[in-house]
Amino acid sequence: MARLKTAVLISGRGSNLEALIRACADEDFPAEIALVISNRADAGGLDHAARAGIASAVIPHRDYANREAFEAALTKTLEAAGIELICLAGFMRLLTAGFVQHWRDRMINIHPSLLPAFPGLDTHARALAEGVRFAGCTVHFVRAEMDHGPIIVQAAVPVLPGDDEHALAARVLSAEHRAYPLALRLVGEGRVKVVGERTEISGMGDAPAMLLNPPDATRA
Ligand code: GRF
Repeated sequence: MARLKTAVLISGRGSNLEALIRACADEDFPAEIALVISNRADAGGLDHAARAGIASAVIPHRDYANREAFEAALTKTLEAAGIELICLAGFMRLLTAGFVQHWRDRMINIHPSLLPAFPGLDTHARALAEGVRFAGCTVHFVRAEMDHGPIIVQAAVPVLPGDDEHALAARVLSAEHRAYPLALRLVGEGRVKVVGERTEISGMGDAPAMLLNPPDATRA
């Protein structure tokens, strides 16, 4: 089976990278991580790549005169490695429309909110401030508008009484570690089609009919 040649782009801790590496360790998984790129030499995630024996490259954005030059270096490195899909996993650089267009429908991102709610930073603090009952994460194809694009997978978690930003972030993060491998599997299996600006996923099972928060104690 040809596995989808995937690169993961990171800037930091790399816990989503770690989850993707774990998923790809299964030889039946339809994608392989062929390359990890970080724009920061001190990204903790680089250790995950090294431990798994995955090739990595550090491309510091500060070494380039502008975004276009930095992205040209990214694309050159990605294409030299024969990369077919990019997974952004905590990659903290805004991308130009040109780069996004070049990798259109071949680049996915994970964001720690139920998009289109709370794009951008500080998602958990904002979710708590709004008093939403569910938080979660979204894996989506990347478009030029930040945290925007056809949605592949979402995972919802409840917001619980007493949650602070850290407690909620930790709950969402463990959902991210399930959602991102699932999205990569679906894309790798060729089951995700972008139609208009939405995705269609073939062979999807049934999602849970309903989640209530708070639970309805009067009903089983
Ligand atoms: C995650 O919360 C992800 O959703 C966001 O950045 C964070 C990266 O965490 N885009 P990690 O580096 O994968 O641990």
